[in-house]
Amino acid sequence: MPFHKIQPEDISAFKTILADKYVLVDEEQLDRCASDQTEDLHYSPEIVLRPDTVEEVGSIMKYCNEHNIPVTPRGAGTGLSGGALPVFGGVVLDMKRFNRILKIDKRNFQVTTEPGVITQVLQETLKEEGLFYPVDPASKGSCFIGGNVSENSGGPRAVKYGVVKDYVLNLEIVMPNGDIMWTGANVLKNATGYSITQLIVGSEGTLGVITKIVLRLIPAVKYDLLMLVPFRSPVEACAAVNAIFLAGFTPSALEFMEREALEWSMKYVQTTSIRLPDDIAAHLLIEVDGNYMDELYRDAEAISQIVQQYDVDEILFADSHEQKQMLWTLRRKVGEAVKSNSVYKEEDTVVPRAELPELLKIVKAIGNEYGFKSVCYGHTGDGNLHVNIVKGEMSDEDWKTKLPSGIRQLFKEVVRLGGTISGEHGIGLVQKDYMDIAFSEVQMQLMKQIKQVFDPKGILNPGKIFKS
Ligand code: LAC
Ligand code: ZN
Repeated sequence: MPFHKIQPEDISAFKTILADKYVLVDEEQLDRCASDQTEDLHYSPEIVLRPDTVEEVGSIMKYCNEHNIPVTPRGAGTGLSGGALPVFGGVVLDMKRFNRILKIDKRNFQVTTEPGVITQVLQETLKEEGLFYPVDPASKGSCFIGGNVSENSGGPRAVKYGVVKDYVLNLEIVMPNGDIMWTGANVLKNATGYSITQLIVGSEGTLGVITKIVLRLIPAVKYDLLMLVPFRSPVEACAAVNAIFLAGFTPSALEFMEREALEWSMKYVQTTSIRLPDDIAAHLLIEVDGNYMDELYRDAEAISQIVQQYDVDEILFADSHEQKQMLWTLRRKVGEAVKSNSVYKEEDTVVPRAELPELLKIVKAIGNEYGFKSVCYGHTGDGNLHVNIVKGEMSDEDWKTKLPSGIRQLFKEVVRLGGTISGEHGIGLVQKDYMDIAFSEVQMQLMKQIKQVFDPKGILNPGKIFKS
């Protein structure tokens, strides 16, 4: 059944649920909610609603479910797979007013927060209490924790500390029909029935609207050391990653940047502070953390010995807080830098870590075959390689018609290596055509049936994950 288009009577109905100023139909707000950080995509909603309580969300969902109006939940709009884009118009449920940290339970190392809190704000607030929530996506300064839960985000520290799913204990959600429920319990172990909590994590806003999040926390870690290792061969840099683990070390970050990734980022943030000799083709950014400085120095020294078995130039050890910040800014800004440089597509490939050198070779070979250039970077400690395909000289025609076949071939190779098509950005809108590569028909049917159980009318974030 086609979705219902918003009419003046629907607007009036929404105004009985929310104050007038939170029922938005002005061009500026519609436009703001029409895009996220995914490529240059633009889908305008018909209306933006900005609730403040779970009851308001419940009433909105109930109304939309009854009237067959599509609803797309939106966090900070930093997503990279189009998850927050209202592809069928309808309502954008803007969660920015859900910005309260409700309870810090220091005794139990837990926090209860609303989804519209900026991840870094949450982390810094917890740090003041000696508590640590380690998951730090590149966009941590602007993304919302609710979006992180919806996408099961990762980020640099995942290699040692895990991803969002490893911290979510319990969620309050609003079902598509407006029912409100908690998914689990605030406990560290839970063998009680199916884990609806873990089903919601990473479900990309397609099963329920998250209104409260309970996270487990760990004690704050005191120190870290950071080094930047320049390699003459990107494939060798990937190979060195595995050698570090095989030698018995688990860095708190092990990030990879091809030369152009760092070069473009330096241009973008306007710094020349890193020496970049002509023969350097890639870097590893390696962080170790812990509570004892002398141990960290020993680990850093041992890791530097390991990487020096490869063809590397002089290693840069960050010797001040400012230098660490600069290196992390350069790493975190790579995505934005690439975006500002060219039309591009970002693939979020992930393979078992030891297969990384092979994956990188395959990316380049497929690029040669299909005529595209790629800039690769990412969380090599997790086997998670972001492949940014830049349009460059490629014709509009080839970009539209040839590139999807190239991406398909890349994903097939990724799966052949034992990997899958998204490590941390999600499927959303832009990867849904490739789901058949990652899943069999039986698996796809099961997932569609789960969606059907939660959302029989298909009004919650339609057009995502599944090919229509
Ligand atoms: C990063 C984002 C793009 O790693 O995931 O920078
Ligand atoms: Zn990433």
